[in-house]
Amino acid sequence: PAAQARLDLGQDAAGPAIEPAVYGHFVEHLGAGVYGGLWVGPESAIPNTRGWRNDVVQALRQVGIPVMRWPGGCFADDYDWRDGIGDPAKRPVRVNRWWGGTESNRVGTHEFMDLVEQLGSEAYLAGNMGSMPPRALSQWLEYMTADGASTLAEERRRNGREQPWKVKYVGVGNESWGCGGNMRGEYQSDLHNRYATFLNQVVRVASGDGEGNDQLVDVLMARSGKHMDALTLHYYTIPGDWSAKGAATGFDATAWARTLKSAMGIEGRIAAVSRIMDKHDPQRRIGLYVDEWGSWYDTPPGAPALHQQNSLRDALIAALSFNVFHRHTDRVRMTNIAQMVNVLQAMVLTDGPSMVLTPTYHAFDLYRPFRGAAPLRVALKTPHFRIGDVELPSVDVSAARTPDGQLVLALVNLDPKQPAQVATGLKRAARGRLLTASAIDAHNTFAQPRAVVPVPVDAKPGKDGLTLQLPPASLLVVTLAPA
Ligand code: AHR
Repeated sequence: PAAQARLDLGQDAAGPAIEPAVYGHFVEHLGAGVYGGLWVGPESAIPNTRGWRNDVVQALRQVGIPVMRWPGGCFADDYDWRDGIGDPAKRPVRVNRWWGGTESNRVGTHEFMDLVEQLGSEAYLAGNMGSMPPRALSQWLEYMTADGASTLAEERRRNGREQPWKVKYVGVGNESWGCGGNMRGEYQSDLHNRYATFLNQVVRVASGDGEGNDQLVDVLMARSGKHMDALTLHYYTIPGDWSAKGAATGFDATAWARTLKSAMGIEGRIAAVSRIMDKHDPQRRIGLYVDEWGSWYDTPPGAPALHQQNSLRDALIAALSFNVFHRHTDRVRMTNIAQMVNVLQAMVLTDGPSMVLTPTYHAFDLYRPFRGAAPLRVALKTPHFRIGDVELPSVDVSAARTPDGQLVLALVNLDPKQPAQVATGLKRAARGRLLTASAIDAHNTFAQPRAVVPVPVDAKPGKDGLTLQLPPASLLVVTLAPA
């Protein structure tokens, strides 16, 4: 029998509209994330536009990439932007300190900004606070955005770009408590304030917590609140622990349940950080950017750094995370999944000339109507289920009203074995798409790229209103026309 859930929708908005940037991305020079995955170079036999592969760019354009954070991650605090401009043949080759191998610098500022423009995205530069002086960061921004007679603007023109670029967001360091310099919060605050002083007309993003460290958030907000427009949070979903994270596929129901529990834990972390932010910034001027989130499994032997498969489970991680972000729009104004292509919870996997869209890609696609929509208050009564020592709700939900008055509902059935029915009482028909599969670790491969793809759903109201059917381990997103 199906688990019976009941959803009652409120009329009031539960918070500010869902910023499109909540569906943002993160691209790091790591493994096959950039080279091979996105970039093949203009001379490649793989069809490309100025080096960026056409198949991947087209897939990403289709789903919509509102913002891209680049070039790291840990890589960012070891990156000198000057290495990546000018004649590609003369660019220095550096050791990629964090992720192995070397960095050719073939992709630098001009190439990245070309990708930003091909995708119609916003640029979010991750600036180096860990190993370069503040002048390096402010000059990078001047090089990119100055018009007129600035010598740096002239240099940019000589390098092939006449018009200044638009850079909306600049990160001041990354994980400054760890790979960004192993700093104490107090020291980081002083540095942040210094670097941020020389950044004008951008959203200044301070590196925040990623280790459950409330004290760090408190220190940063107290000492640097005035000099930031956003603070970051990193949160990774891991079935096991950092020493044995667990496999991306071939897992059992226990690992499924542990993973979804870990994914749902992001809500407690966002709530805790938001409470501390509220203490220092009751007007909520400062945004909370979850600029790294997603699943992190063990990398298979021989695979490029942080390469992993992506299964139906990842689509549900994405959906549960989106639902959480929608519940916290009063602070969460941007998030960036780690990472866009071939790294961690990727949207797209590539192998030579082949490309496959992952279940996570389809989750992003299903949730597109939520971008810019107003989240609604909901009351959900759902049964819970238990696997081993993990208890989870059968159903999770998010509801929002789009600017043109449609109601959009996202429903997740977390239970890998039991279907669920969600009674809404609404007297309207719903139309949308369902993502599910017969195996909980179902995934798309180059040989079978359509093992996990959405299917259309039409649901009509019965005498008690609209009841939505959720197979085990599924994600349903539907829209309902205005009443
Ligand atoms: O996304 C991979 C790495 O995870 C990033 O470089 C770093 O910021 C985080 O620890």
